Amino acid sequence: EALKDQMIIDAGQKHFGAMVCKSCGMVYSSASPEDEAHHIQYHQRFMDGIKYTSWKNERVVAQFWDGKIVLIQQGDSKYASKKAEDVRELVDRELGFKQVVLTYPTQTQTYLFVYNETKIIGCLIAEPVRRAFRVLSEPARTLELPATENSLDAQRAWRCSTKPEEVFCGISRIWVFSLMRRKRIASRLVDVVRRTFLFGSCLSTDEIAFSDPTPDGKLFAAKYCQT
Ligand code: ACO
Ligand code: ZN
Repeated sequence: EALKDQMIIDAGQKHFGAMVCKSCGMVYSSASPEDEAHHIQYHQRFMDGIKYTSWKNERVVAQFWDGKIVLIQQGDSKYASKKAEDVRELVDRELGFKQVVLTYPTQTQTYLFVYNETKIIGCLIAEPVRRAFRVLSEPARTLELPATENSLDAQRAWRCSTKPEEVFCGISRIWVFSLMRRKRIASRLVDVVRRTFLFGSCLSTDEIAFSDPTPDGKLFAAKYCQT
């Protein structure tokens, strides 16, 4: 009887164990055929989305030992624009954003962190923004863009000041691949935005704002803006 129970427990653990795909980062249960099918589908889409092949005239705005940051602007090649769009779709799906309209689509700047010359593991989308509202809750004061209609939850969760402050750059999306977080990839993306967003000047942390930050985004922004 004991042996039988033991066998069931072992089989059960193997069977129901949560798996993390080392390539796409998805957590799924190998026990569930549905989960596995979902993973296969997600995996392919994700790997295609983050796949990077350098293009002609790419704008490298920073280089590090573990990667580089490439900037894509309006008017860049079809290939580069398509890549920016694909990555944005992937990020929006992860953030649960549906069809969020960019405030200034023609002035949007997309910064991609490229790892190993083959994979995009970070993305930051910046827009010119003039006014933002300071978040009134702890842990630290961060600036938030006027909320869009998709962000009612975020509005409820965080109290914002009613007095707008002047900023220059709005970070509408920031994302780092789940298995590469806490390696200062987001910090380096924001550093580069501050240096390159406005030609000829370096923006202070008071002059950038984060739009509708998620809990992760808020923790990151609070920490980043203090330093
Ligand atoms: N929890 C607590 N502190 C954090 C977190 C977190 N999840 N993320 C960052 N920080 C703080 C830490 O103090 C960190 O320094 P440490 O690692 O030495 O402690 C510091 O911020 C710098 O963090 P980075 O390594 O530069 O940040 P990372 O590359 O991990 O990216 C990001 C942060 C972009 C928020 C990432 O967690 C992510 O992609 N999350 C999912 C997507 C998301 O929610 N994006 C924000 C949406 S809001 C918006 O787009 C405007
Ligand atoms: Zn996978």
